[in-house]
Amino acid sequence: MYRHHALWAIITALSIPASASVVPRQAPACDAPPASYAAVTEPGLPDPWKFVSGKAVATAEDFACRQAEMSRIMQQFELGDLPPPPDSLTATLSGTSMSLVIKVGSNSKTISVSITKPSSPGTSGGPAMIGVGGANIPVPSGMGRINFGNDACAAQQNPNSHGSGWFFDLHGKSHSAGATLAWAWCVGRIIDGLEQLGAAKTGIDPKRLGVTGCSRNGKGAFMVGAFEKRIALTIPQESGSGGAASWRVSDSEYAKGKNIQRAAQIVRENAWFSPRFVTYVNKTDTIPEDHHFLAALVAPRGLFVIENDIDWLGPVSTTVAMKAGRMIYEALGVKANMGFSLVGGHSHCSFPSASSADLTSYINRFLGGSATATNDVEKSKATVVIDDWIKSWSAAPKGINLAA
Ligand SMILES: *[C@@H]1O[C@H](CO)[C@@H](O)[C@H](O)[C@H]1NC(C)=O
Repeated sequence: MYRHHALWAIITALSIPASASVVPRQAPACDAPPASYAAVTEPGLPDPWKFVSGKAVATAEDFACRQAEMSRIMQQFELGDLPPPPDSLTATLSGTSMSLVIKVGSNSKTISVSITKPSSPGTSGGPAMIGVGGANIPVPSGMGRINFGNDACAAQQNPNSHGSGWFFDLHGKSHSAGATLAWAWCVGRIIDGLEQLGAAKTGIDPKRLGVTGCSRNGKGAFMVGAFEKRIALTIPQESGSGGAASWRVSDSEYAKGKNIQRAAQIVRENAWFSPRFVTYVNKTDTIPEDHHFLAALVAPRGLFVIENDIDWLGPVSTTVAMKAGRMIYEALGVKANMGFSLVGGHSHCSFPSASSADLTSYINRFLGGSATATNDVEKSKATVVIDDWIKSWSAAPKGINLAA
């Protein structure tokens, strides 16, 4: 998204003078974005298949441009801005501790990240699971592990903790990013470090990284997967509102009397979202996005969404939004790359053993290198009427196959 902005800035700058020889020959991939996006009135889930300009998404290239647009819209309305990579980053490894020296402008931070190497990494390194605040899923033994201390990157104590953490030390206390988007940027720096050090030192193949986290950290895991394209498999666990749930459906459930987390509450509870979001929390039908877009941003990469039948998480809301997400994956020719599992009947953040086989198949397929496994998981205890929520959707594009 930022790359697109930067590219556009360069192309625009180069287009003005008469020196036509320096204008890049190939056409830019995407139409120039507007300076900002207008609010809408849309009671259902916004249409993934139409650009804000009204143009239809017809090709794989169009979808990549629409993803960039969805990303910008989510940043503008609820997440705050995702900064570009830092000006410099230097990684060193001492035992199981990776040290990162990160510089943004005149600000510098040194960050320490704990790494457990895969048990038999081979020459190109083995897979690793990044746990946002730790992992609550059973990570296969022998897999590498990285513990991302997300609270230190961007604090999540209360709404007033916005601005605390090393993300804000680097970018300024008044930076627009909410904590969950800040975490995505910070995980990007961990991956920078792994790439710089290389598999010979870390034992980790940066192309085989998963990310997980539960509850508030599940909201974060979903943001990391959506905004950090180097993640191969995203496993948000019981992320509920602000994660796998739809803002609109959660408001509808609240109106029906459910004890459910929703936008108007979430900005009073914590600093997970941008201060920008406060304007919209009592009118979520005016934002030109909703959280099925998070699945669209992860696509076509691996995504296994685990939810629970706890009212506060919004089982109807997560099922509607992720059903919509799977419709997007299906139209992209990669339906089985996204799974959704809500078996319920267990306590919050305790992984149900009934889901072990599904989890293992996603991990094997996207991190373990066993490409033969196919899975197509969609399980939910909640009964939903998806058609009520996608009335405004254009016909899905035909013939896109992102698996090819
Ligand atoms: C949203 O509406 C509720 C109920 O009317 C109100 O208490 C709250 O202050 C509003 N929130 C914002 C951010 O406007």
